[in-house]
Amino acid sequence: MGTERVKKVCIVGASGKLGQYMVRHALERGYEVVGVCRERSVPKLAAFEGRMTVVPGPTNDPEVIRRAVAGCDGVLTVLVPWGVRQYASGTAQAVLDHARPGARLVFSCGWHITRDGKDRYSWSFRAAVRIAARVAKLLRYVEIDDQVEACRRVFASDTRWTVVRGSSLEEGESQGLPVWSRHVGDPVLAGNLTRRVDFALFMVEALTDDTLVREAPAIVGRLTPGALAHAGEAGGRS
Ligand SMILES: NC(=O)c1ccc[n+]([C@@H]2O[C@H](COP(=O)([O-])OP(=O)(O)OC[C@H]3O[C@@H](n4cnc5c(N)ncnc54)[C@H](OP(=O)(O)O)[C@@H]3O)[C@@H](O)[C@H]2O)c1
Repeated sequence: MGTERVKKVCIVGASGKLGQYMVRHALERGYEVVGVCRERSVPKLAAFEGRMTVVPGPTNDPEVIRRAVAGCDGVLTVLVPWGVRQYASGTAQAVLDHARPGARLVFSCGWHITRDGKDRYSWSFRAAVRIAARVAKLLRYVEIDDQVEACRRVFASDTRWTVVRGSSLEEGESQGLPVWSRHVGDPVLAGNLTRRVDFALFMVEALTDDTLVREAPAIVGRLTPGALAHAGEAGGRS
């Protein structure tokens, strides 16, 4: 399918901060929107009542995902490492298994995910991820390894996927489409900050950008110093 023909999209993890921004961008583009979120989080989508369909349930439940993605041309999935029940890998697997062949699949994660091992992380970034992973696992709150496993499965799949790797995030008005690079450590990404609303914009734009199929772009805000210094380079990519 040509991605210019995207009409109906599913947003998995629609009730979170990133998810709600994606719902807004998708509705603005005139897409029919189906959202999946935990039952208790449905009220967070009240602002969109009547403009989207909500399928309540755990996002790692294959049956919930099968119903939600039916007939969708694109699926936007928020991969989160919360909990210690393989939530992220279960969610990714359900989407990979049930989205229709040829659908555009766009997943979110952070810079700590590496596709080819060629990312160059600062020692402080590595230390922060290592400490966060250990503390979180001890507290049985976050399972960063499972987000890694989720992305490994996406990278290995023969679907039309994109894994968008977010920098540190902040709230605020949109600054426009973030710029991206294949590898963390590239100078364009030095600012390490993206507005969450623009992370969502990048995810939704990726649905119709075939150059991002089977890419894992690491993104950064277009007004960060590194991005401004590299402005003008082809496609905004370093
Ligand atoms: N936060 C950052 O600084 C940062 C940096 C880089 C990349 N990212 C990436 O950005 C994406 C969005 O992250 P975010 O931090 O901005 O969060 P977010 O958009 O608010 O999303 C959090 C999601 O996690 C779900 N969730 C929360 N607790 C849960 C639990 N115990 N079990 C199952 N699901 C649970 C929420 O669902 P409910 O609405 O049902 O609670 C919501 O869908 C993720 O892919 C993340 O890896 C984040």
